[in-house]
Amino acid sequence: MAEELHIRQGSKKERYEALLPQIAALLSGEKDQTANMANIVAALKQTFDFFWVGFYTVKEGELVLSPFQGPVACTRIRYGKGVCGTAWKEARTVIVPDVELFPGHIACNAASRSEIVVPVIAGGEVKAVLDIDSSAPDSFDETDAHYLERICKENVICINNVVCIQ
Ligand code: SME
Repeated sequence: MAEELHIRQGSKKERYEALLPQIAALLSGEKDQTANMANIVAALKQTFDFFWVGFYTVKEGELVLSPFQGPVACTRIRYGKGVCGTAWKEARTVIVPDVELFPGHIACNAASRSEIVVPVIAGGEVKAVLDIDSSAPDSFDETDAHYLERICKENVICINNVVCIQ
């Protein structure tokens, strides 16, 4: 079956509003974590043309690189390290307007200027994080946080300690 994303022009809010039901439809009936993470990051990349968008999954006490779109990236991030490790440790969304001002920021790519990281929480634990990088400063705000949190929350179920995005 052909899958097609309809990208709405308009404000950031309008584009997220159009995107959310399409992500739900894309994931509908599919429980494979890799497949679903892959389609979420592809849909976000296609809609907003972010510099880098991807998941890191908690595996054996570390964040491990998972489906992403963009340049090659760091494969493992430790608990509490960088923006991703901070979002994991604090179980909250972290918005970084200027990566150079975030102590401990991990520069996987020198072109990244601002970043948002949203935890995927299931069963009261962070199971993964969604990380988005922009090549422009100050690209992310509360609108991004709101909708990205909804994407992570509304599409997650947890089975046997494994994040299944559906
Ligand atoms: N900058 C992130 C590392 C991941 S890359 O941006 C893809 C961090 O500080 O955790």
